[in-house]
Amino acid sequence: MPVKKTATKRKAIVSIIMGSDSDLPVMNAAAEQLKEFGIPFELTVVSAHRTPDRLMKFASSASKRGIKIIIAGAGGAAHLPGMVASVTTLPVIGVPIKSSNSIDGWDSVLSILQMPNGIPVATVALNGSKNAGILAASILSTKNKSLEKKLIAFKDKMKKEVVGKAKGLKKKGFDNEFDQ
Ligand code: RP5
Repeated sequence: MPVKKTATKRKAIVSIIMGSDSDLPVMNAAAEQLKEFGIPFELTVVSAHRTPDRLMKFASSASKRGIKIIIAGAGGAAHLPGMVASVTTLPVIGVPIKSSNSIDGWDSVLSILQMPNGIPVATVALNGSKNAGILAASILSTKNKSLEKKLIAFKDKMKKEVVGKAKGLKKKGFDNEFDQ
């Protein structure tokens, strides 16, 4: 009897969590970035305020499940990344989100950024989940040469794009003395 070939699913090493599914439009950029780098990840909702038991269970089991980095996004009184960081020894990257219950985004930024001594959360820009994905890749690349190469190629592509934009401005008649 022929053996049925099934694709082996790679185990997630990054966990993307968010306070609500309404955060997904922002957090999706982190997922896209991890996909681009070929990093296996999981993604789900964990709410600090609405599901404190789920948060504790998630954060205390993440390392044992093989997760290496947690990306946590939340809006308003955004306690999710900090509370997760208080439970786990894994690096936590916090994404402040300007959500429907956020005054102007500063509430989320400060809730995630201003952690007390002893419980760090690496906080990216407001709605900056793309950078959270890149930062996760950077951390993992310290022990993964092929990922390091992907990051170098990613940065080279960005450099080329910027030089292309500078040339584009020149073509439009905006001259500069630097690119002679
Ligand atoms: C936060 O409240 C979530 O992270 C989200 O940003 C915000 C609003 O949540 P919903 O009311 O849309 O579920 O905890």
